[in-house]
Amino acid sequence: MKQSSLGNLVQPFHVMELVKAADTLNNQGKPVIHLSIGEPDFPMPKPVEQALAQAISEHKTRYTAALGLPELREAISLYYQTNFQVQVPAHQIVITSGASAALMYACLALINPTDKVLLTDPGYPCNKTFVQMAGGIPDFVQTQEAQNFQPSWADLYKQWTPHTAGVLLASPNNPTGTQLGAQAMQEIVQGVSTQGGFVIVDEIYQSLCYDRPAQSVLQVTGAPSEQIPVVVINSFSKYFGMTGLRLGWMVVPDTLLPAIERFAQNLSICPNTPAQWAALACFTPETLAICEERRLVFKVRRDFVVTALPKAGIELHSTPDSAFYVYAKSPYDSERYCRQLLEQALVCAVPGKDFSEFRGSEMMRFSYANSMDNLETAIERIRLFNNRQLP
Ligand SMILES: Cc1ncc(COP(=O)(O)O)c(C=O)c1O
Repeated sequence: MKQSSLGNLVQPFHVMELVKAADTLNNQGKPVIHLSIGEPDFPMPKPVEQALAQAISEHKTRYTAALGLPELREAISLYYQTNFQVQVPAHQIVITSGASAALMYACLALINPTDKVLLTDPGYPCNKTFVQMAGGIPDFVQTQEAQNFQPSWADLYKQWTPHTAGVLLASPNNPTGTQLGAQAMQEIVQGVSTQGGFVIVDEIYQSLCYDRPAQSVLQVTGAPSEQIPVVVINSFSKYFGMTGLRLGWMVVPDTLLPAIERFAQNLSICPNTPAQWAALACFTPETLAICEERRLVFKVRRDFVVTALPKAGIELHSTPDSAFYVYAKSPYDSERYCRQLLEQALVCAVPGKDFSEFRGSEMMRFSYANSMDNLETAIERIRLFNNRQLP
């Protein structure tokens, strides 16, 4: 059977080969510590679990509106008001199957075939796929450690062409765990709107930040509109620890809503219904207290990892202040290093190749979504491996 060109275009994640090798080692009784995981190691908060069970027992399992449960859209609107002091009308909030579906809908609604879209390098590997699915051409902007791997408007403008339609950013970003400051964000939105482009801002790691209060681009722009060409992406996956429930949201200007609704109706009918009812429990004081406690646990781990890794022979050139990732310089070719670290030290970290076209072989990502005990053991193994002291 002949395969489509899109089927051939989409790249596999290189890390999957490593994860398969890690599974083989585990099956041989050699326990691997994963510093490769992109999801919280905590279960979903108890009140959310209870709300999910209740939704199922009450048979809340039929389709909802394509744009999501009105109650949940209202709750998110209130969340923006309470936590970020920004008015986002509930009708501009669309519930989606994770940030993934939100990114897909945003790209489909904004990109025409052969449009160029600026993406940061390093960045989340699926972004280029979303752009390509919409017929667009990913155009990577190399970011620098000195700027915490985030672009300025000047960096983006340098690469702006008559064929550039817009920018897709993440703040905080994956794999770097770094954010854009409010002023830089404002300059980017202003600059892009002068060019008549769009800015998609992925805020999936928004509330997992450790050195300053969580922020949203909406605090500097206000709700998206014809004049404010911003689409914001968010998710219940990370801060609320609900990765497998596949639930997220997006904030869109009124003009995009009809197209987004048609994409949602046609591509997924609606987001997961019990998950939407369960997500209502995310905004209760009880759940928010649990999530806050977990954020502080992540902060302790972040503090540990950023001091322990350099002592173990891993150079850090940026300061991760959010998400649960450290993006660091690999002692040598990152694919070879990660493979040897796995086989000899039983630690699985991710080579930079999945995240970066430019410097993937120089860089690697560590995730600290693992217990403190495991982090301590893993970093000691890394130290011994780097010093050639493994037994
Ligand atoms: C930056 C970024 N955006 C989006 C996603 C997709 O998340 P979701 O589980 O909400 O689809 C991820 C997942 O790791 C991510 O790191």
